[in-house]
Amino acid sequence: MTSVGAADHMQRAPDGLLRFDVRRDLAAVIELLELGFGDDLEARDRRWLKDLAALSAAGPLMNMLLHVIPGAVDGLGGFVWYDAGRLIANASLLRAGPDTWVIANVVTHPSYRRQGIAGRLMDSALDAARARGARRIQLQVRDTNDAAKTLYTGLGFGPVGSSTLYRLPSSAVLAPTPEEGRARAGSGAAEAAPILAVRPWRSPGDARTTRLLARAGEIGRAGPPSLVRGTARRGRFKGRMDDWLHSRTRHRLAVSTNGEHRAIAVVDAYDHGGPHRLDIVIDPAWRGRVELQIVRACLERLIGVPPAAVETDATGQEGPLRAALEAAGFEPVRTLERLELWLGGR
Ligand SMILES: CC(C)(COP(=O)(O)OP(=O)(O)OC[C@H]1O[C@@H](n2cnc3c(N)ncnc32)[C@H](O)[C@@H]1OP(=O)(O)O)[C@@H](O)C(=O)NCCC(=O)NCCS
Repeated sequence: MTSVGAADHMQRAPDGLLRFDVRRDLAAVIELLELGFGDDLEARDRRWLKDLAALSAAGPLMNMLLHVIPGAVDGLGGFVWYDAGRLIANASLLRAGPDTWVIANVVTHPSYRRQGIAGRLMDSALDAARARGARRIQLQVRDTNDAAKTLYTGLGFGPVGSSTLYRLPSSAVLAPTPEEGRARAGSGAAEAAPILAVRPWRSPGDARTTRLLARAGEIGRAGPPSLVRGTARRGRFKGRMDDWLHSRTRHRLAVSTNGEHRAIAVVDAYDHGGPHRLDIVIDPAWRGRVELQIVRACLERLIGVPPAAVETDATGQEGPLRAALEAAGFEPVRTLERLELWLGGR
């Protein structure tokens, strides 16, 4: 018996530039991202691709899943390039705010590079964003990726910040107390702050969380939605479904004073192998006072789960958070530069 795949029913895509079509292109884009990025794909990106692969295999279930898996649906716009019926380049376009759009997953098959294809996809993505009211375009690129940086700066993008991925080799390592952390971190996170209570943080619809995200510049920032931002947005049912699909427990923590959150964190503890993931957002006015405490509280939530590596990100401005992570044994893995382009100038 022969099985007939969905692709057999579809007409071959014409060559050249096309608008991304989830049903036609998703599986090939995933394959191309794995080929094009290779070892540069991180655990988080791999999880995201796994979600997308599940969607592409889901057929009629896709619509339902699109609404259950946060973050997956956001990456599904943009442009692709076909040659001889084969998808050989992609640039995704997603909305991040009222006038802000993000370009991501820019990749050209290795055999087709330096032919101007990524440049054409970028031009189309910029035109499409402009037509939909975008004023600002953001993207992220590894600080060592000279090819992509040349492509983006040639289009007028400029640097606006950076974000470093930190990894703790094993969650089985005991986190330092704030006092020990202060001694280890030296001046970076050394302020002798009062010890405040770390409490569970409820979501969604917590106005204090929205205010903290706004103060910390998290809203409309480039890149995939952070765990905190994603958690603040998602509904209770969707949240439980999502945790169940990923075999994980999500903890929400907050340090608050005078009715305002000063730091919030999300900890994703995976039941079947890591890396576990932390995301910490600090009120800029409270930097240097709460980091040691919240890092320790996050790592305490991983006691009792299968030991695995732990990953988190910290921006270039978050010196005390980086110092607190390093005091707890985290090591920097790679740095992404954030680039921005203002359409029509500022
Ligand atoms: C970066 C990448 C997408 C570029 O794709 P491409 O189709 O080869 O790019 P283009 O041919 O459109 O190049 C446009 C311009 O970008 C710059 N550029 C592209 N590749 C470059 C390289 N290897 N070295 C220096 N500059 C480069 C050049 O200015 C080039 O113009 P030119 O050829 O007239 O000098 C491709 O190398 C790739 O897929 N890399 C792996 C995935 C990746 O790193 N993606 C970016 C993630 S942020």
